Amino acid sequence: MDRPRILATNALFEAAQKLLNARCDVEYWTTPGSIPREELLKRIGDKDGLVCQLTDKVNQELLSAAPKLRIAATVSVGYDNIDVLACTRRGVVATNTPDVLDDTTADFAWALLMAVARRLVEGDAMIRAGQWTGWNLDQFRGTDVWGKTLGILGFGRIGQTVARRSQGFRMRVIYFNRSRVSPEIEKELNAEYVDLDTLFAQSDFLSLHVPLTEDTRHLINAGNLQKMKRTAFLINTSRGPVVDEAALASALQVGTIAGAALDVYEHEPQVSPALIALKNTVLEPHLGSNSLETRTKMAVMAATNVAEFFEGRQPPNALNPEALGK
Ligand code: GLV
Repeated sequence: MDRPRILATNALFEAAQKLLNARCDVEYWTTPGSIPREELLKRIGDKDGLVCQLTDKVNQELLSAAPKLRIAATVSVGYDNIDVLACTRRGVVATNTPDVLDDTTADFAWALLMAVARRLVEGDAMIRAGQWTGWNLDQFRGTDVWGKTLGILGFGRIGQTVARRSQGFRMRVIYFNRSRVSPEIEKELNAEYVDLDTLFAQSDFLSLHVPLTEDTRHLINAGNLQKMKRTAFLINTSRGPVVDEAALASALQVGTIAGAALDVYEHEPQVSPALIALKNTVLEPHLGSNSLETRTKMAVMAATNVAEFFEGRQPPNALNPEALGK
């Protein structure tokens, strides 16, 4: 077979480029920012493989524009940007990058939690604005993290990694997940399985770690926010649409909950102006897994999936291995 032709919608990293370039002819999108849709649809026309990112939708429209496409490798663990069923129907293998980002994303959830509880961003902003006039007993009064109840919604790899970090803070950990994890894991993480209503009612910090599916879309809505403590904080490093952003903004405005720290939004890159106007929010531009070490590993993983595929093997992170037989 001729060398496969690949489109990479990001320059990736040297290690990933090396891997891909050794086996394939790769066209990289190196302009800063996401590839415009029309460019993507145009450039994918003669390609056998795609290395893409979250902002690139691999849907029926793209598949129709890509008659030769055999593999779509997203450099992300979440794959709500890929219509996996449509890929399977077309015999296109889809892959993602699980595991390597668990610790880095859990670190970031903790960074958000600490920042919103202890008001780091407000304090920093005051100093930069030249407005600090000196120590004051009641300045930027925060709330304790240690000893509180940490609620985790979605107790997969990342949720569990967040729980593991709570032990140094002597917290009670409660979680809800579609299925209960093993007693060994519960014991190791000192985590208690509760129903959803108990999770909402008892969490002082509620951290979201569910994938975006039709079941989880708007799971955090006005009704469920009402069930939370007025002193509680919401942390979201999962996917924006898990939260009804308008309902969250209203809840924060009227004090239904105390604050929110968000890395993801319902309509990225737009962030609701109501959230921006509030002081009890910490807002980050979807950075969860973004350390040099982890993003490099993710890019190498995506490149490995593509390289393995074109060497005739099953890609290690195939989401739909059944597409291989087609
Ligand atoms: C980032 O959001 C990812 O899914 O990897």
